[in-house]
Amino acid sequence: MKPPNPSKSTELTFDDFRKRAADDSLSQYEKIGFPDSYREGKEDLIFADVRRKLTNLEKQGQTILDIGPGCSGPAFSLIEWCRQHRHRLVLIDSQEMLSRLPDEAFVEKFSGKYPAECGDIVEKYCGRIDAVICYSVLHYVFVETNLFDFLDHSLSLLADGGEMLIGDIPNQSQRKRFFSSRNGVKFHQAFTGTNEKPEVSFNSVETGKIDDSVLIGIILRARAAGYDAYLLPQPSDLPMANRREDILIKKP
Ligand SMILES: C[S@@+](CC[C@H](N)C(=O)[O-])C[C@H]1O[C@@H](n2cnc3c(N)ncnc32)[C@H](O)[C@@H]1O
Repeated sequence: MKPPNPSKSTELTFDDFRKRAADDSLSQYEKIGFPDSYREGKEDLIFADVRRKLTNLEKQGQTILDIGPGCSGPAFSLIEWCRQHRHRLVLIDSQEMLSRLPDEAFVEKFSGKYPAECGDIVEKYCGRIDAVICYSVLHYVFVETNLFDFLDHSLSLLADGGEMLIGDIPNQSQRKRFFSSRNGVKFHQAFTGTNEKPEVSFNSVETGKIDDSVLIGIILRARAAGYDAYLLPQPSDLPMANRREDILIKKP
């Protein structure tokens, strides 16, 4: 029997994002790693879904943290939302990415790779954050960082009643379920304009890919640490709802 042949991860790295952010020839969506078609006209729906899931955002005077805000619509919407609700907003990303966002009195920018380079901010805000947003970032953290180090640091930041949304996580198992279904085949054929069937392989080692086991592992670890944790679907009007899920964690 042949040994498994894990492919090298093709995900962008923190440094790739840094370079993209500094590249003026790229659109705001390309800077954060998306083709325009995936995000254009969709970002208000994304922010509305984030607000539905993180109920502390609706309150006044909360402390909010965004890990990896990027520099497109959701980051600008969040800044505006925090202004209107008198929230304090902490943003962690590369200096190149953060420099694309406005400087405001209620916004604290911290440049560095989370959590490895963010010891100071973790110490400063330990037990003080009411809502953490980490949207469309976990799959990059997964290949570059110890996942549970990321999770444990994030849990330690939450205040009593605090919430964390780890959103837009590509789930390889969900993707396989979808593309092995009749609807998934139709979706693929409409997308490619062909009659071909999508390629789906089971029982293979997939280095760098998040699957059910990883997501459920996060839920179990958060629960074991004393937090409520849930795996949530995305609304069907989001661009990758058929293969991405969200995790919501709440400190009781
Ligand atoms: C795909 S973009 C998502 C941007 C934004 N959250 C959104 O959904 O519009 C990923 C962002 O996470 C940042 N990022 C990736 N790994 C990170 C890490 N370990 N710490 C902080 N930021 C990170 C990247 O620089 C980039 O801005």
